[in-house]
Amino acid sequence: MEQTPKTTQELTFSERLKESTRQTHDKVDEMVMSKEPFANTDNYSKFLQAQHEFHETLRPLYLDELLNKHLPGLNELGRADNVIKDMKDLKADPATDVPARPALAGIEGIGWLYCGEGSNVGAAILYRHAGKIELNDEFGASHLAAHSDGRMRHWREFKAKLDALELSEDEQAQALKGAQEAFAYFKSVLQAVYG
Ligand code: HEM
Repeated sequence: MEQTPKTTQELTFSERLKESTRQTHDKVDEMVMSKEPFANTDNYSKFLQAQHEFHETLRPLYLDELLNKHLPGLNELGRADNVIKDMKDLKADPATDVPARPALAGIEGIGWLYCGEGSNVGAAILYRHAGKIELNDEFGASHLAAHSDGRMRHWREFKAKLDALELSEDEQAQALKGAQEAFAYFKSVLQAVYG
């Protein structure tokens, strides 16, 4: 029997985040792959530069005291240091000509965090591609590696924390806006580093 799609009201908050960013995600996915980041280490270094901008932008959110109260353990999840380590492995310098890093705070930040954490789900695919150019969790691709609890388990747990926030309709709308902005920002840095 065919299932009737849920109405927006019936979706959980994390389902709404996914639903509202599905199209923009697929565009970013296409854009990443069109740059052939795993064709060689030069292309991959540019991808790292984009990841560096993205994860440094997220860094203060992962450390935010209030957000940590509502999302326990958040401060252990950021991958900005892993990106820096991967850049050192490949002797890649940060990009210079990139859009300014936005200062993030408040409810919109939750949407940005959704984007940052969720990106580790698709990273399973990227990690496999990285293996083809001899990169792995110990050298060059530590930021794409799975969480020690397992990628999907960790993701389910994170989404459960988002759903437990019980945000009002207005707050959810702000978070959805933040998620859209996060994808748009990633797209802009990707464009800047690959030219
Ligand atoms: C070539 C690049 C990428 C590929 C191949 C890819 C692939 C995927 C795949 C297969 C999933 C799981 C989808 C599902 O469970 O239905 C996923 C989830 C996700 N990805 Fe990507 N992704 C890429 C890039 C990105 C980037 C750059 C970001 C963010 C800046 C991102 C953010 C997300 C988010 C937030 C989710 C979670 C969706 C959800 O279940 O709510 N992805 N990705």
